Amino acid sequence: MAETTLDLRDMPKRQAYEELGAYVSSVLAGIDDDITAMATISALAHHAFGFLWTGFYRLVAPTLLRIGPYQGTLGCLEIAVGQGVCGTAAKERKTIVVPDVTAFPGHIACDTRARSEIVVPVFGRAGTLLAVLDVDSQIRGAFDATDRAGLERLVGWFIRPER
Ligand code: SME
Repeated sequence: MAETTLDLRDMPKRQAYEELGAYVSSVLAGIDDDITAMATISALAHHAFGFLWTGFYRLVAPTLLRIGPYQGTLGCLEIAVGQGVCGTAAKERKTIVVPDVTAFPGHIACDTRARSEIVVPVFGRAGTLLAVLDVDSQIRGAFDATDRAGLERLVGWFIRPER
């Protein structure tokens, strides 16, 4: 198939996430490689919504996240579990929505233009934490329950029970 980068900014958010999810599944059909999936999901989500920064931090040791595939300006290379928004999401194994990054104690500013952020844990089979997906926006309060549901569903790919 000929892959195309979607721009879904004109679509209602819920519908856009549905469209994106379906497209990610079709592009990744037959692929069984986490890094390929991270690269594909970050590129497609980033451009679909026009985010500031979109990418993965992989859990490479019990207490260490290291940057994986991403789109945007240079990201911090390593983040300790428990530090920043990413490290907190990894530690708590739950999604964190930060409407105003200046109000989050310990927020790590990789791109000073970031105003709001969402970090979603990425689980593999048997509930193993593989990574977190970090999305930043230049707009304050950009992320809501629809983004949470949409992004959590998107990273459901990594469980891939049928493969
Ligand atoms: N803001 C994140 C760090 C990663 S960068 O924004 C890409 C944090 O506080 O964990």
